[in-house]
Parts: sequence; structure tokens; C-alpha cells
Amino acid sequence: MNYSDLNEDFMYRCFQLALLGKGFVAPNPMVGAVLVHNNIIIGEGFHERFGHAHAEVNAIHSVAESSKHLIPKSTLYVSLEPCCFHGKTPACTSLILDHKISRVVISCLDNTPEVAGKGVEILKKAGVEVITGFLEEQGKNISRQRSVIVEKKRPYVILKYAQTLNGKFATLDKHQKWITSSLTKRLVHKWRSEVDSIMVGTNTALSDNPSLTNRLYYGSSPVRLVLDRKLSLAPDLNLFHDNHPTIIVTEKIPKQLPAYKNQNLSLLELPFHDRLLRRILKHLLSQNIGTLMVEGGIQLINSFIEQGLWDEARVLIGNVHWKEGQDAPEIPEKTFFRKKIAKEDLVLFYKS
Ligand SMILES: NC(=O)c1ccc[n+]([C@@H]2O[C@H](COP(=O)([O-])OP(=O)(O)OC[C@H]3O[C@@H](n4cnc5c(N)ncnc54)[C@H](OP(=O)(O)O)[C@@H]3O)[C@@H](O)[C@H]2O)c1
Repeated sequence: MNYSDLNEDFMYRCFQLALLGKGFVAPNPMVGAVLVHNNIIIGEGFHERFGHAHAEVNAIHSVAESSKHLIPKSTLYVSLEPCCFHGKTPACTSLILDHKISRVVISCLDNTPEVAGKGVEILKKAGVEVITGFLEEQGKNISRQRSVIVEKKRPYVILKYAQTLNGKFATLDKHQKWITSSLTKRLVHKWRSEVDSIMVGTNTALSDNPSLTNRLYYGSSPVRLVLDRKLSLAPDLNLFHDNHPTIIVTEKIPKQLPAYKNQNLSLLELPFHDRLLRRILKHLLSQNIGTLMVEGGIQLINSFIEQGLWDEARVLIGNVHWKEGQDAPEIPEKTFFRKKIAKEDLVLFYKS
């Protein structure tokens, strides 16, 4: 077969579109699709929200009435293999066949057990020309979160923290001291808008009194989680004061609760043993929470690292040098990239 007419730009457009779903679709995958006729995009779409239409549906439905007759003669580029089962929405393979689309170009296969190559098989059997593995590595990277959810049966975990130039993470007496600049704070709020949940340890909740909401970027705020084994954290902490959904993980829920003001607060009772984090993650996924960002402190981040329960780490290196302080966690992986962000450096790691 001659694939010389395939154009990488169209698949890159699919990736751009897919990423627009960040923060809205987990535990589903981010997917983008474009319909191309004679080198012109006649329709495009992405999976916009969990439970809503898939990228292929939105791409096909976006085609103008005057161009609809071109659909069967078009090529569908899609960042992930089309689904072939009726879940919350009908199978995309059926839609592709109904519209008689004759060629489909896929970046990477979907590892969801119900799909996993079957989508491609159905299309090929029906006579559709299917090309797979087009810009596959880039496509896999976009589907990383979904792959983790499917393979590890837990949310995608991002560790996020700041450290000084000489590797210090917190002051010795645990009082809060900023390491990064206000512009970077805005970036962190953007990251918060892109995840389903966010978590801190007991000491961080107490010493930093964080709100853990997204206030500096558009979009929503994640569900907050805090460990509070003995329910010793004061009800007037910021986490319990507003009405953002918040989960307190505790060892035993008492009959008489502290006087929390938050109307969207729930308590999750779990034994505080070595499987605690695993059980929290399992609970989150059962609530369709597909991503978790862990924002400290040292003990909590180190527990995730020690137990191998992480997928990505975003370390912000502030342009400051502290004489003393607690050492930052060490990420046991090679740096994926290091780049300048405002006055700081962002170092990214992926777990292999
Ligand atoms: N540089 C940064 O980006 C950054 C970010 C956040 C915080 N911080 C700083 O970090 C310091 C706090 O760090 P930290 O290490 O002391 O506290 P932490 O990790 O926030 O909280 C530790 C406490 O949380 C509970 N906990 C944590 N992991 C657990 C696990 N796997 N299983 C069960 N319980 C667990 C335990 O509470 P119990 O002992 O009560 O059971 C533990 O004592 C503060 O100074 C804060 O300012 C810095």
C-alpha cells in the first residue's frame, strides 16, 4: 500500500485536539480526530467530557451540510483506535461503517480489553483501509493516563513538589516558606484544573493550610484528599472551610464529627497500614476519578515513590539556596526533560 499521501500534520492536529480534553475525560482517554478530504480538513472533534460523545462522533458531526457527501471519500485520522463496543455511547466502528468512511489512520491501539485491536479488525473485515502506528509514540504519550488506568487499575498519579537549588524541600521546623514564584503558582493552578483529585499529608495540611483549589486558572478544581488518621486537623483549616468536594481519609469515623463547615465533605474510613495508598487509589477509581496529583509533604510523596505508586513527577526547582532544611524526595528515574519556567526550572520524570 502506498502511504505517501499521509500527512503528519493531520495527526498532530488530532493530538492538539485530544489535549483539549485534559481534565475533563478521565478515566476515559483523551482522543482527537480529523476528517480529511483532498488534503483539507472537513471535520474535527475531540472527546470533550467523560460519558459524552467520542472524538470520531464529534468530528463526523462537525462536517458542514454542504460537505457531507465528501465523508465516504475522506480519510479519518484518529489518535486512538476507535472503540467497538457500546459503552456510555455507541461503538465508533459502527459510526465509521455507517458513514462509509473508506480509510482510517490510527496513531496507537487502545489497550482497553474490550477494544485492544478488535476495533481495527472490525473495520478491516468490513473493507476499510486501516493504517495503524502512525506517529505511534506521540499517540501513546497522549494516552498514557488511560493506559495506566487500564493496566494498573488505579488512577494516574502525578507527584508535584518544589525544591531549592540545593535540594531542600521544607524548613526544619516545618513552617511554610515559598520556593517558587507567583507565575509558577499560576502554572500549578493550571495543573490542578487538569486533574480529577489532589492530595496532601496531615503535616502539610496543618503547616501550610493550603486550599488546594484552582483559583488562578480557568476550569474546575479537583476533589481534595487529606490524610487525617485521628481527625486531629482543626475544622477551620482552609480545606474544610469552603464547599469544594473534600475527602478526609481516617482510621475510624467517630460518632461525633468535628464541626466542619464544608458541605461537600466526606470521610473515608480505611486501616492505616502499608496498603493504605493502594486502597485510596482503588476507592478513587471506583468513583471514576482517573487522575491524582500529590502535592506533598515529604513523607507522603516518599510513600508513593517507595511503593512504586506514581507515573509522573513534576519537580519545580526554585532559584533559591537554603542554608538548611529537609531534603527533597529523590525520584528514582532518569530526567525526561528540564526546562525553564518563569524563574524556576521544571524537571519532568516518567516512571518506566
Ligand atoms: N516543597 C514543596 O513542594 C512542599 C509541598 C508540600 C509541603 N511541603 C512542606 O513539607 C512539610 C510537611 O512534610 P511532612 O513530610 O512532614 O508531612 P506530610 O507528608 O504532609 O504528612 C505526614 C503525615 O501524614 C500522614 N502520612 C503521610 N504519608 C502516609 C502514609 N503513606 N500512610 C499513612 N500516613 C501517612 C502521617 O500522619 P500521622 O503520623 O498522623 O498518621 C504523617 O505523619 C511542611 O514543612 C510543608 O511546608 C513542601
